[in-house]
Amino acid sequence: MTPFPREGFRALRRYTPIEDPVEIELSDNTNLWGCHPDALAVMRDAASGDISNYPQAYSSDLRDAVADTFDVPAECVITGCGSDDVLDSTFRAVCDPGARVAFPNPTFLMIPHLLVVNSLQGVPLGNARRPPSPRQLLDAGADLIYVCTPNNPTGTALSRAWIEELLDGVGSTGPVVILDEAYYEFNVASPGYDPGDTSLVKRALAVPRIMIARTFSKAYGLAGLRAGFGIAHPDLLGEVEKARGPFKVGLLAERAAAAALRDRSGWLEPTVREIVACRDRLVAELRRRGGDPLPSSANFIMLPVPAPAVEVTREMIARGIAVRPFPNVPGVGEALRVTVGPPPVIERFIEAWEDICHPAAGDAGQEAIAAEAAG
Ligand SMILES: Cc1ncc(COP(=O)(O)O)c(C=O)c1O
Repeated sequence: MTPFPREGFRALRRYTPIEDPVEIELSDNTNLWGCHPDALAVMRDAASGDISNYPQAYSSDLRDAVADTFDVPAECVITGCGSDDVLDSTFRAVCDPGARVAFPNPTFLMIPHLLVVNSLQGVPLGNARRPPSPRQLLDAGADLIYVCTPNNPTGTALSRAWIEELLDGVGSTGPVVILDEAYYEFNVASPGYDPGDTSLVKRALAVPRIMIARTFSKAYGLAGLRAGFGIAHPDLLGEVEKARGPFKVGLLAERAAAAALRDRSGWLEPTVREIVACRDRLVAELRRRGGDPLPSSANFIMLPVPAPAVEVTREMIARGIAVRPFPNVPGVGEALRVTVGPPPVIERFIEAWEDICHPAAGDAGQEAIAAEAAG
């Protein structure tokens, strides 16, 4: 009989968001400009039956909205209770226990979690400043390759040439590739973005091996509703849909997400542009004051810190600001991940960061943090 809890699973920790009550929440990469107003209007118009009835089994209306937006057949679209659900369903559909999953390291924290839950072997490659080559991922003997671009937690985006090389290498018989584009909208609005994404979607549909995952939790500001989607060839999608199961996305979440995607009010583009401008100002300001944030194409930045990230985070929380600590990041060391907010929020963060870790404080600053943590 398999012992309970099974081996490997026992050590797994429940994912814990930062739950301390804080004034400024910069730890989960949501949209600090608020939610898409077209989605809010849908929620305000809700009727009793929208809640007492089950939703559509496979969110046909949202699938149609995605299909219209991307000009793909609805049979190439899957929805999920957040894009986490699309990732989870793809892992379960594709991998037998023991299968290998290759990914550029570091990556989205849910991936190591899914590896343990599904008894899979992770093959992390590269580091935060130097991603692996597509060839290294393809040669890793993996059944599944997970690539996040722009990457969480670093914020850096892979070039289109890099992605094309990976997709070329997969062909119709290679490992299944998940291309997680949770932060896609910010990448497109970033300086230097190489356009032509629509053809990338079309290209992904040419072989039953590529799943493009997107979310409504970030640019659209709908994290509380839990809606995401994937685009893939119907042969791959049909298998993943079996793992997903019916009745995942709530009816109001589906309707609100479809309204946000159709974006009749035109809210999305200027909002994303403003977030990107604030991000670039934050990066420039940190650099001007001696910080060394990684280049970002997302709505957050990774900022190396001169002391243990967990201690710095504790200090931030004491000042009313939640950020996400990343200890021991390969290629970077101790770092914080910080969501971009409007100017007053950025100012508060910079002030706290200077107070806690200003580079001028040097070793004395580290000692002060360590002493405070100890006492
Ligand atoms: C890279 C990445 N993928 C997927 C997700 C999941 O998003 P959702 O809220 O749609 O489940 C996140 C959320 O933080 C993310 O950072």
